[in-house]
Amino acid sequence: MCGIVGYIGTEQASGIILNGLEKLEYRGYDSAGMAVFDGNKINITKAVGRLKALDEITHGGESMPGNAGIGHTRWATHGVPNHVNSHPHYNEQETIAVVHNGIIENYLALKDKLIGKGYAFVSDTDTEVIAHLLDYYYKGNPLEAITKVLHRVEGSYAFGILFAEYPDELFAVRKGSPLIVGKNETGSFIASDVPAILKYTRSVYFVDEQEVACLKADSIRFFTVDEEEIKKECVHIDWDENAAEKGGYEHFMLKEMYEQPKTVQDTLMPRIKGEDIVIEELGMSDEDMRQIRKIHIVACGSAYHTGVTGKYIIEGLARIPVEVDVASEFRYRNPVLEEGGMVIVISQSGETADTLAALREAKERGFKVLGIVNVVGSSIAREADNVMYTWAGPEIAVATTKAYSAQLIALYLLALKISKARGVLAQEEISCMMEDLKRLPDQIEMLLNNKTKIQHFANRYIGAKDIFFIGRGIDYAISLEASLKLKEISYIHSEAYAAGELKHGTISLIEEGTLVAAVSTQKSLYQKTISNMVEVKSRGAFVLAVTNEGNTEIEKAADYVIYIPETNQYFTNSLAIIPLQLFAYYVSIGKGCDVDKPRNLAKSVTVE
Ligand code: F6R
Repeated sequence: MCGIVGYIGTEQASGIILNGLEKLEYRGYDSAGMAVFDGNKINITKAVGRLKALDEITHGGESMPGNAGIGHTRWATHGVPNHVNSHPHYNEQETIAVVHNGIIENYLALKDKLIGKGYAFVSDTDTEVIAHLLDYYYKGNPLEAITKVLHRVEGSYAFGILFAEYPDELFAVRKGSPLIVGKNETGSFIASDVPAILKYTRSVYFVDEQEVACLKADSIRFFTVDEEEIKKECVHIDWDENAAEKGGYEHFMLKEMYEQPKTVQDTLMPRIKGEDIVIEELGMSDEDMRQIRKIHIVACGSAYHTGVTGKYIIEGLARIPVEVDVASEFRYRNPVLEEGGMVIVISQSGETADTLAALREAKERGFKVLGIVNVVGSSIAREADNVMYTWAGPEIAVATTKAYSAQLIALYLLALKISKARGVLAQEEISCMMEDLKRLPDQIEMLLNNKTKIQHFANRYIGAKDIFFIGRGIDYAISLEASLKLKEISYIHSEAYAAGELKHGTISLIEEGTLVAAVSTQKSLYQKTISNMVEVKSRGAFVLAVTNEGNTEIEKAADYVIYIPETNQYFTNSLAIIPLQLFAYYVSIGKGCDVDKPRNLAKSVTVE
């Protein structure tokens, strides 16, 4: 995710900012920039690519003298990674500079209003809206302008702001995105994450939601959104610097699993507008959606598993036949694509060679392709006709977790949108399902907080030879992902089976003590799956069940049960996968595997 660093004090700001941004490089970014007040005006320098490029063009910061500045590493969300979209952003007079982490959900509406008032935009970003909106409200009092902006913006954000008319002050505010403020004997600091300023200070304040911090070289004051001053406690940070880079988590995979509530929120909420689901980037009218005869979903690995889930959901909710293909098969099997067909490719990296080739194959045959992609400006994002971004931020652990969760959300939204356009579900049903979607982030958080129970259970299986996952319908799709997660990071042989298929061969592999994880979240299939659990149990299996709260009947057939909170039957994947990700993670670290970088695997598979 993007990084923010800022400084005001007696030292040169640029060197401190570059050093701080370097400490945030591990988070991933595609461009960097900084704004420094030189005594007369605010200067901005930006560079696409590595931070080293910014360091070089500013001669390690020397060509940007000044004691107050803000810096940023950008992970593109709105607008491709290029010079103009990089932060900081100015107002037209270049008297206000802003850096921003997060997503402004209502930026298009705000942008339209500002254009109507004569403001000209140069970038495609949501952040530039903030620079102009601050300009619009600024009447000589920065705090007043900032709080007015806060009343207007929706979404998640952390801002660092400079006003040329207030060269002795630096402003910061947050909601939904992290931000800390620190102090030492030379000055005051802002940062989106602790490691950025650990070298300079260990005395920090954690800024709370919608609190505005006004920093001077020798003081820091905090205000509410109603401009009332508040007192905050300074906290001493005693993290070691390496742990800090993972936000205090032992591994990136664990950190990314814990980011899932936010990822889900960020992918979901900007597309929910009142009673409507708005996916502007789809480029399809309701009439276009009514014309769809068939959907082809093409992807690899975990992204393919979200596609399998998508099949059940789109067929169930929108009543359109869906075919799901592994991209390496699709590209060579001469698939039948007919008029009215819609092709969707799913990819976190946007660079997977087979998925890209499948996209090109579909386009060559004259089909429009929708990409569900995480990395903005990636090859798939550039070549797809339309792109629906998952806003999961950079994923560093090889095994995907948060991008997978974000892809599921994109598919839920798509299914509901098409369903509504085709008149399959009534608005009342859709509204109810939207409420269920909004509850997912908290429910995921609750499941993550139950990790100790899963850890104890996982410790019993670090010596396992084979583990099986079974389920029916969407539970089968969940099983596919749970099995891949386990095998790729723990090196334990694992397979996923449609539960009804067991007796056609696989059941002969069940031995005394073999772990069989049965996923059973589909009420209409409870009894069927219970029968399959009984089948394996009677052949010696130890049965772990993952099911909905209240389905206590399952305890008769299972040896161990993990309950997930109640949600709509189509969304259970988002919840059931959480304990199974945790299970895979704890088995892997219990075995001493390199969980973030499993052997033989690469994060982005750019070869066939
Ligand atoms: C598994 C995993 C892989 C990817 C697959 C596709 O944890 O991460 O299976 O899902 O390589 O990658 P993307 O989504 O980048 O196309």
